[in-house]
Amino acid sequence: MAMRKHIRQIIKGMPTRDGAGVELVRVIGQPALGMLDPFLLLDTFRSHDPKDYIAGFPSHPHRGFETVTYLLNGRMRHKDNAGHEGVIEAGGIQWMTAGKGIIHSEMPEQENGLLEGFQLWVNLPADHKMDPPRYQEFSAEHIPVEERPGSLIRVITGTTSQGTQGPVAQPLTHPLYLDITLESEQSFTEPVPLENNSFVYGIEGMTHIFKDPQNHQSVTKDQLALLSEGDELHVTAGHSGSRFLLISGKPLNEPVVRGGPFVMNSQAEVRQAIEDYQSGRF
Ligand code: FE2
Repeated sequence: MAMRKHIRQIIKGMPTRDGAGVELVRVIGQPALGMLDPFLLLDTFRSHDPKDYIAGFPSHPHRGFETVTYLLNGRMRHKDNAGHEGVIEAGGIQWMTAGKGIIHSEMPEQENGLLEGFQLWVNLPADHKMDPPRYQEFSAEHIPVEERPGSLIRVITGTTSQGTQGPVAQPLTHPLYLDITLESEQSFTEPVPLENNSFVYGIEGMTHIFKDPQNHQSVTKDQLALLSEGDELHVTAGHSGSRFLLISGKPLNEPVVRGGPFVMNSQAEVRQAIEDYQSGRF
């Protein structure tokens, strides 16, 4: 018998700025939700106004975790110190394992129009924090879309109950990253690994999350619903349909010490990262 997840807490993001002055909303990694192991940070950005995003994220380092960029609208160019360069376009994913260190820039590849998307930071376990950097990048046409009656499921990573497998693989945290669109009042039921921490993030419309037929709570646009324990999610869209992300990952249960763009297990490792970066060892 499946144990259905319910909403433990609704989190609203906190408007902030990062990079060279990009307006964004921090949903994980802020006072209301410091982290959700293995997720260290979730930023969302959505603006039609180039003033909010044009400055981008000039050259900066990362060590010890992964940055995951998913764009809904617009284009971002990234470039790193190892000569890797490309453009992420609408519907595309970049899963970057920073590992022992990367220095890169992330800049809007547009001068006007809507830029909308997410950046998620996924932690790496202690014995993989110093792995060589690598990328898993897929444009929209390489992300499978599973069709069910009244619903479309874009599978970025993980495997659905119907066998659709996302192109990104990360056995260390076993993530599930689904972008789900439901038509008016349609339902969606999916198993989620019991040991994972999981959340739903509302993109459009209203999504009702059912614990049982008499008991539901709702998550709406720009809210994160922190999910309870359980091994199944059952949701129904409101009248106008809904779109949301379902993200889940296996907790690492290790000490987390942050030093800005470096996330390690101890202060000494963060100091080492700063020293390595400053002396050009990235
Ligand atoms: Fe970055």
